Amino acid sequence: MPVPDKEFIRDAFDSITPCYDLLNQVLSLGMAGSWRERSAKILLSDPRFSPKTLLDIGCGTGKFLECFLKARSWESVTGVDFSVAMLKKARKTIPGNVMWLQEDFDALPFLESSFDLVISGFTLRSVQKLTEFLSNVHRILTPGGKAAFLDLTRPRNFWVRLFFFPYVRFMLPLLGWLFSGRRKAYDFLSHSVRSFQSPEDTIQLMKAVGYRDLTSKSFSFGAATLIIGTK
Ligand SMILES: C[S@@+](CC[C@H](N)C(=O)[O-])C[C@H]1O[C@@H](n2cnc3c(N)ncnc32)[C@H](O)[C@@H]1O
Repeated sequence: MPVPDKEFIRDAFDSITPCYDLLNQVLSLGMAGSWRERSAKILLSDPRFSPKTLLDIGCGTGKFLECFLKARSWESVTGVDFSVAMLKKARKTIPGNVMWLQEDFDALPFLESSFDLVISGFTLRSVQKLTEFLSNVHRILTPGGKAAFLDLTRPRNFWVRLFFFPYVRFMLPLLGWLFSGRRKAYDFLSHSVRSFQSPEDTIQLMKAVGYRDLTSKSFSFGAATLIIGTK
């Protein structure tokens, strides 16, 4: 299953917006919130890194961005998504001075060196041209700035895989379909988690487009991974 076209992805996210946050927590067995929070802690605990401008790409309802907002004050915070429903919910539920922009992340309308920190949660699997995307994010980072991608990945541990694969293959699309009514959206989620490139491949790609000091941190036996690169 290739990455579906953008119309499909946007419609799918528009229509699952009301139940997205709840379903996200349920389907990740309650772990998505803590993956986001731990990612923010890791990024903001580096004493040599003091970002002032933040961009969240594919911000959805703003839950990832919120972890960074709560942790410190910022000169500017921007959230970008192409789903109007997601952005409306973000604007309604996330307090603080955030610029919510409806944009396609394949055509980010920002000048070179615009942000000290760019984050993106659970979006890489929806990107159609990954090399272009990663290099565009690199372009808009300030020198010394960081990009951080948190996404679902496949655990390595044999015993965890025994549970993980049947869950992702069968339970996740079924529960997603039952609760949201959008079968294809959750089929895509299931398929993309099983087939998307490994974190090591993403790291190689980031290296190739110019990122340095690449690090990763896996959560919950590798069910999710945070990848960080510096410009
Ligand atoms: C799985 S959700 C993640 C939302 C949020 N980052 C989180 O942590 O819950 C992926 C988001 O990416 C957005 N998205 C997907 N493709 C996009 C594109 N081409 N341009 C902008 N946003 C996109 C979707 O609308 C959706 O809100």
